[in-house]
Amino acid sequence: MGIFLILIVAIACNDSKTNTGDNGKNYESKIDSIINIMTLEEKAGQMVQYTSGWDVTGPVIDDNYEEYIASGRVGSIFNAHTSAYNRNLQKIAVEETRLGIPLIFGYDVIHGYKTIFPISLGESASWDLDAMERSARIAAEEASAAGLHWTFAPMIDISFEPRWGRVSEGAGEDTYFVSQVAKARVKGFQGEDLMALNTLAACAKHFAAYGAPQAGRDYHTVDMSERVLRDVYLPPFKAAIDAGVRTFMTSFNEYDGVPATGSEFLFQQILREEWGFDGFVVTDYTAINEMIEHGVAKDLEGASELAINAGIDMDMQGGAYLNHLIELVDSGKVKESQLDEAVRRILRIKFELGLFDDPYRYSNEEREKETIMKDEFIEAARDIARKSIVLLKNDNNTLPISESKIKNIALVGPLSSTKEVLGSWHASGDYEKAVSLKEGLENNLPANIKLAQTEGTGFDTDDESGFAAAKRIAAQSDVIIMALGESEHMGGEAASRTSIEIPGNQMKLFNELKATGKPIVAVLMNSRPLAISELDNKADAILETWFLGTEAGNAIADVIFGEYNPSAKLPVTFPRSLGQVPIHYNMKNTGRPIDHDEKYTSKYIDSPNDPLYPFGYGLSYTSFDYSDLSLNSKKITKDDELKVSVKVENTGEVDGEEVVQLYIQDLVGSVTRPVKELKGFKKLMIKAGQTETVDFTITEKDLRFYTKNMDFASEPGEFKVYVGGNSEDVMEVLFTLE
Ligand code: BGC
Repeated sequence: MGIFLILIVAIACNDSKTNTGDNGKNYESKIDSIINIMTLEEKAGQMVQYTSGWDVTGPVIDDNYEEYIASGRVGSIFNAHTSAYNRNLQKIAVEETRLGIPLIFGYDVIHGYKTIFPISLGESASWDLDAMERSARIAAEEASAAGLHWTFAPMIDISFEPRWGRVSEGAGEDTYFVSQVAKARVKGFQGEDLMALNTLAACAKHFAAYGAPQAGRDYHTVDMSERVLRDVYLPPFKAAIDAGVRTFMTSFNEYDGVPATGSEFLFQQILREEWGFDGFVVTDYTAINEMIEHGVAKDLEGASELAINAGIDMDMQGGAYLNHLIELVDSGKVKESQLDEAVRRILRIKFELGLFDDPYRYSNEEREKETIMKDEFIEAARDIARKSIVLLKNDNNTLPISESKIKNIALVGPLSSTKEVLGSWHASGDYEKAVSLKEGLENNLPANIKLAQTEGTGFDTDDESGFAAAKRIAAQSDVIIMALGESEHMGGEAASRTSIEIPGNQMKLFNELKATGKPIVAVLMNSRPLAISELDNKADAILETWFLGTEAGNAIADVIFGEYNPSAKLPVTFPRSLGQVPIHYNMKNTGRPIDHDEKYTSKYIDSPNDPLYPFGYGLSYTSFDYSDLSLNSKKITKDDELKVSVKVENTGEVDGEEVVQLYIQDLVGSVTRPVKELKGFKKLMIKAGQTETVDFTITEKDLRFYTKNMDFASEPGEFKVYVGGNSEDVMEVLFTLE
């Protein structure tokens, strides 16, 4: 470690009175001691981040990162991992620079590091917050054992945009739901204590409104009112702060004419002044530079000035701060104290991670070997994957498949044997270790069932040369399983589509197989809601399996053979067609709500208004009946708690889990309110034939929104409470807030 730093930190550590703050973790005077001896160059250096050559997730505009580390001009490296590799980079920072300030290593550990869990949208379909926390916890255990300190997750952008490939990275369309998921994932990554060796600092991204790009095109312009921003898009970020998230990432889009990375409104006013956030903010990849293309800065110096004035602490990959902060201070355009504040926030997290105690503490090869892909992690990956599978249709109990009825299965489709089931942003995930659908079915095949498999076609092709083989095995089967959808590369960043249909000739093959008269189970893999009306009409059963990660094939087999009774529900609406987009359950009513007998009402002439599958929808191998929805009172005051209770009966033959959902509607407001808003949910196991009573509590706080005057408040009046197993099939009851 650099000689000066050792001295300073040692002095500060002995100064116990000034250094013990909240929970003994107040590092402020130590940070002061360091900032006091830093040169301007060293300060700017802490605010610079570069990708290593190990992995690259965007354009490379400068790859001299080792040289920059050695000269103290870099504070963080991303896309570098494994204990050994990161130890070597850390050594350069600690041993070759004057102050020896350790680097913080970041990486996109989004849904797993080596053991890969379902893509975030898919995992959210489990509605199981404990499971989501657990998968983030495991991801952190593995990544922190592989030399990493910080993950660029959770991604908590609300989105109603199926064209946008990144809808796969979030938790869907609902503000309340995404806020709960944000908390679970932050808790999972960060654990109880960042100082623990098995935790990562989390990063709430992308701030803000990135999920609303015009026309669904990635990085495109966003235009929305402040009311919508605050009511719909911001709450998950506030929830992440409440859960203790330590960093934020800017978004690529503009908000109200200002690119987020230069937005004083978003970062100074909302994040720091209103929310009091004391962690640090990193830009998205080259987002400072992109302000030139956005047209708000004429050169990189001007863009850097906008970013530092907005309170952006670290420049990811752009070289903007590296090359321009010093001249900005020298010319008086930026105050050195602004750099001090940014450096303070960055050093604070480095202290919290224990990097000043031991910069190599996350680089232990032994621990790495013992931790990566432990059996218990693989078991958890299988369990969470099967919890994420949504049963969309199941006519005539086609599923589960059992030996008593089925002797031969034909498995076809472009996703039937591929190991590319990890999904976008799969970090260091290993395709070799991924379980394909074919492998999963073979691993779990009941003794008397035979399986034949052929692809039949590709993802996006008009080549029909494989059709004959597919039809041949289909003709000899009792049931066809067709694995269809998108390739994993059709989702994630920079993967927007203008069509949300199943691509290529997959549906043509489906129709030819349908002509055999055999029942067809469609196994969908995809990163976004797809328009699958035709499939819904014709398939006997449909499983939405997203991209389920390492254990995908085994998890799908568990559902297909009835080892697991599906319990997942859609966290996002599935439209009938792209023409309905944006479509989400919590829309406004309009002044002319749909009326089929009245021409001049809000509807289409060529499609119903309602979606194919609503938010919260998903079937089970059993059925549930809702009854006796009741309230403890018809009226509440601002200080009361309203108790809502409902009975849910499992009316089928097998045990099953149900996600009981509670929505409210504010009937009259000073501004229009959504037709429904999720305010609570509970997932519970109900044994066959049993009835459970499910209780919820609503308080005045749950009824707040941005009123006409932009106060965040509730308004007296009537509200409806809806309870059901999805956002459409609900019971309702009325109450009044006095
Ligand atoms: C993405 C971020 C990601 C970053 C680093 C960007 O292109 O938008 O979500 O964290 O790259 O890989």
